[in-house]
Amino acid sequence: MPSVRVHADPAKAAVAVAGIIADLIRRGRPDGRKVVLGLATGSTPLPLYRELIRLHRQEGLSFSNVLTFNLDEYEGLAPDHPQSYRRYMDENLFSQIDLPREQTHVPDGTSDDSEAVCRAFERAISDAGGIDLQVLGLGRTGHIGFNEPPSPRESRTRRVVLDEMTRKDNSVFFGDLAAVPRAALTMGVSTILAARRIELLAFGAGKADIVRRSLSERPGPGCPATWLQEHPACTFHLDAASAAQSAS
Ligand code: GLP
Repeated sequence: MPSVRVHADPAKAAVAVAGIIADLIRRGRPDGRKVVLGLATGSTPLPLYRELIRLHRQEGLSFSNVLTFNLDEYEGLAPDHPQSYRRYMDENLFSQIDLPREQTHVPDGTSDDSEAVCRAFERAISDAGGIDLQVLGLGRTGHIGFNEPPSPRESRTRRVVLDEMTRKDNSVFFGDLAAVPRAALTMGVSTILAARRIELLAFGAGKADIVRRSLSERPGPGCPATWLQEHPACTFHLDAASAAQSAS
């Protein structure tokens, strides 16, 4: 079962998770290879990225020995599209730390051959020696990355059709529901579960019901985040509002 940490507020949770990431980077990998981070987008990890930038600027945390893999990308959005996840990562983290661009990976949502993109993405993760720490958010459908229900345990990086609830939730960033892509490329459930440790962040009353379901329902494809119950080193970082429906 995931451990649950209820923080005083999202900013404190961000500091805690950034501290875990900084420790991992400073310790380095036992095999001497680059530390591999799995990263998430959405509004939830923004305070975490701000704290990592602060650690870089004020406490000398270097990302030069880090590789990153992002969970997902919208289909059809060019890397410089204002709502692409590549652009989000460039603006909110990569451009503000010492992480060379060639050490960052976001699936290419513009290729005609999405299967080849997904296969290459999986290969790159495995060539890097697997993900040391995966940051996750949580969608109200129970999605992790863009693994919408139903997403089987054994799913790998692939093209998925987005749930209408997800499109509606994300339309705030696009300004218009019609502008939200209908499909995306995402790491699969088993890609995520292969990470050595997972730090999930979910804040606010709007996430309370899906947090409760993720922690209490039997693992299954209908609520993909329930698969996290099968991971040996997963922590849910919550605030009082998102934890409100989960009995402790
Ligand atoms: C998005 C992303 C997910 C994210 C989730 C929650 O659509 N694909 O990786 O975790 O939905 O988003 P937010 O953090 O904005 O609530």
